[in-house]
Amino acid sequence: MTEAKRLAAEKAMSYVEDGMIVGVGTGSTVAYFIDALGRDPERIRGAVSSSEQSTERLRRHGIEVLDLNATGPLALYVDGADECDGAKRLIKGGGAALTREKIIAEASQRFVCIIDPSKEVDVLGRFPLPVEVVPMARSLVARKIVALTGAQPVWREGVVTDNGNLILDIHGLRITDPVALESAINQIPGVVSVGLFARRPADVVIVGGEPPTVR
Ligand code: A5P
Repeated sequence: MTEAKRLAAEKAMSYVEDGMIVGVGTGSTVAYFIDALGRDPERIRGAVSSSEQSTERLRRHGIEVLDLNATGPLALYVDGADECDGAKRLIKGGGAALTREKIIAEASQRFVCIIDPSKEVDVLGRFPLPVEVVPMARSLVARKIVALTGAQPVWREGVVTDNGNLILDIHGLRITDPVALESAINQIPGVVSVGLFARRPADVVIVGGEPPTVR
């Protein structure tokens, strides 16, 4: 699937315009996109990064990393996903960067999601749904999720997010109403964000292949 990821990332370059500030996601697919940006780092004004991992890679390529508070709204955000349904709704957060990813997606006019074909699903939920939680609320949130969904939250032990929080992965979901579930989980005190991107789905999905599919 690495070649499919690379092909999707290369295709996303056609959405990058000269002088842009580009929102940049996290993960192995986005790493190819950062490397593509790095072929001509002067072409863009800079990037807003969704993780320390992406920041490091951007800087290595000589791309300036800017603070979202200083840039204002972004024209373009490019990021991967763990699952994508037919309505361009996503599960994200396999790399634990979901909160910053959600912030940048919300701040962006166009969200281009780059995936390999294995990420396409009819119904979201086979991939365990990540939830970022404030550490003291971990057990409380887990109990609330069980009561709400009947599914099983598992603490991703040893992982601390870039924001100093923890991740619960909810196993065994079949998400037939992603907007409702996103809203319900967001209401639980102690939840920082949930890796369901349904209220603000992707605008464009590029599925890597020869040639890539754009929808
Ligand atoms: C990071 O937290 C995630 O949202 C990534 O976007 C997602 O896990 C996709 O990663 P890959 O591109 O490595 O498959």
